[in-house]
Amino acid sequence: MSSSFRSNLNRKMKTTTIKERSRFLLSKMLSMIHCLCYIYMMIMANYFTAGALAIAHTNFSTDQSALLALKAHITSDPQNILTANWSSASNSNICNWIGVTCGARHQRVTALNLSDMGLAGVIPPHLGNLSFLVVLYANNNFFNGPLPQELSRLRRLKAIYFQENNFTGTIPSWFGSFPKLQTFILSGNGFSGSIPTSIFNLSALEIISVSSNQLSGSIPREIGNLTMLKGINLDDNKFEELPNEIGSLGQLEELFVQENALKGSAFVPVLNISSLTTLTLFGNNMSGSLPDNICEHLSSIRRFSLGRNQLDGLIPSKLWQCKELREITLGSNNFRGSIPKSLGNLTYLTKILLGDNNLTGNKFGGVS
Ligand SMILES: *[C@@H]1O[C@H](CO)[C@@H](O)[C@H](O)[C@H]1NC(C)=O
Ligand SMILES: *[C@@H]1O[C@H](CO)[C@@H](O)[C@H](O)[C@H]1NC(C)=O
Ligand SMILES: *[C@@H]1O[C@H](CO)[C@@H](O)[C@H](O)[C@H]1NC(C)=O
Ligand SMILES: *[C@@H]1O[C@H](CO)[C@@H](O)[C@H](O)[C@H]1NC(C)=O
Ligand SMILES: *[C@@H]1O[C@H](CO)[C@@H](O)[C@H](O)[C@H]1NC(C)=O
Ligand SMILES: *[C@@H]1O[C@H](CO)[C@@H](O)[C@H](O)[C@H]1NC(C)=O
Ligand SMILES: *[C@@H]1O[C@H](CO)[C@@H](O)[C@H](O)[C@H]1NC(C)=O
Ligand SMILES: *[C@@H]1O[C@H](CO)[C@@H](O)[C@H](O)[C@H]1NC(C)=O
Ligand SMILES: *[C@@H]1O[C@H](CO)[C@@H](O)[C@H](O)[C@H]1NC(C)=O
Ligand SMILES: *[C@@H]1O[C@H](CO)[C@@H](O)[C@H](O)[C@H]1NC(C)=O
Ligand SMILES: *[C@@H]1O[C@H](CO)[C@@H](O)[C@H](O)[C@H]1NC(C)=O
Repeated sequence: MSSSFRSNLNRKMKTTTIKERSRFLLSKMLSMIHCLCYIYMMIMANYFTAGALAIAHTNFSTDQSALLALKAHITSDPQNILTANWSSASNSNICNWIGVTCGARHQRVTALNLSDMGLAGVIPPHLGNLSFLVVLYANNNFFNGPLPQELSRLRRLKAIYFQENNFTGTIPSWFGSFPKLQTFILSGNGFSGSIPTSIFNLSALEIISVSSNQLSGSIPREIGNLTMLKGINLDDNKFEELPNEIGSLGQLEELFVQENALKGSAFVPVLNISSLTTLTLFGNNMSGSLPDNICEHLSSIRRFSLGRNQLDGLIPSKLWQCKELREITLGSNNFRGSIPKSLGNLTYLTKILLGDNNLTGNKFGGVS
């Protein structure tokens, strides 16, 4: 209401100015045609300026009302940040509000940083009106309730940080509808059920973390479509299987699937990812043995953890071929045989945990 009121006022003032200038021009100009042309140009110029202002203004207030709706849905603001700073006065410039960043050209909200504010409440659907939003940080708060589907209208979003909140329920399938999303962090919430297949529609995705939730089932094979993925963190859930297609993620550097319910030979497909530097499958229920040529495809591996599973067989004798290895954890399994002496020539190795197996002999060259 106030916005349309103000843009009407704007237009009236501009029209008055034009009339005055026109009168001045009329008395001065000899050429009537010239004069009319000039007036016409002025009117057109004014028309475009007023139009541009109205559009910018309309959407400035769209952003403002979206943020005020968010503020109105906050039930606890222990540091008094939004309460004190996000002023509802109609002339308050939202671009100066704490946590709000606007684009330089269009003055629309491009980043919202609500992290570490201790806020509780629900995310209102109005947030989906921040149509220029690129980055949304809401980590380390107590946001709860379902996430509104209107967020799927944020077509420019590149990063969502929702870790350490109180969100529950299933991960909504509309999370698959952000064409530019690169970073997607939902760690440390109460999400349950399986990961919706639509997530693997996010073709620009580089980092996904859903660690420390109650997620279960198998990872959809469509994960193999996300060829830009560099990091996946599934720690502390109840996942049982990894699909073979995960082996085709040629840029994947870090894979964390610690403390889950992986069973059988779930590790087999990931042993083929030569870009991996960190692979953590600690604390699952996998069985079977490791191939002797394990390093042929894991040539970049630095941190490798398969501890606390049901693995058996021998420790691969060619492990020394993983030249980049810093840390290896194979403890609390059923490995047997001897510890390969050649581990001693791994230059960077600083940590090796093999305890609680059925290994014979515990001396090997240089590494203790
Ligand atoms: C909100 O915080 C910003 C940045 O600290 C400050 O410039 C602005 O004056 C504050 N606004 C209000 C209404 O407190
Ligand atoms: C977001 O805000 C928090 C708290 O004010 C600050 O520590 C953090 O650096 C900010 N993050 C970014 C990416 O601006
Ligand atoms: C913003 O979003 C809400 C809820 O989704 C809607 O009711 C409202 O009309 C939208 N538009 C503006 C301009 O606030
Ligand atoms: C203003 O923003 C709303 C909500 O994002 C959008 O639907 C509308 O098309 C925009 N209007 C203009 C004129 O840009
Ligand atoms: C958030 O979740 C924790 C653990 O489930 C619970 O103890 C706490 O009361 C919740 N807090 C809010 C503000 O919802
Ligand atoms: C998948 O992405 C395309 C292109 O961004 C989009 O049109 C479609 O709605 C998305 N599908 C789902 C299920 O999210
Ligand atoms: C996604 O993966 C599935 C299963 O691996 C495959 O059938 C499908 O063709 C892939 N889609 C795209 C767009 O690559
Ligand atoms: C791993 O790579 C080898 C050699 O390229 C191939 O023979 C094997 O089928 C692959 N295994 C998986 C599970 O992708
Ligand atoms: C691990 O797998 C074995 C059989 O393969 C099963 O008996 C056991 O219950 C599983 N343990 C867990 C914690 O899932
Ligand atoms: C490491 O040990 C293996 C097996 O003993 C040996 O063949 C290889 O040459 C050694 N590599 C280096 C760099 O010393
Ligand atoms: C350990 O290995 C020895 C010799 O192979 C075997 O007799 C014993 O049963 C094994 N113990 C366990 C707990 O697997």
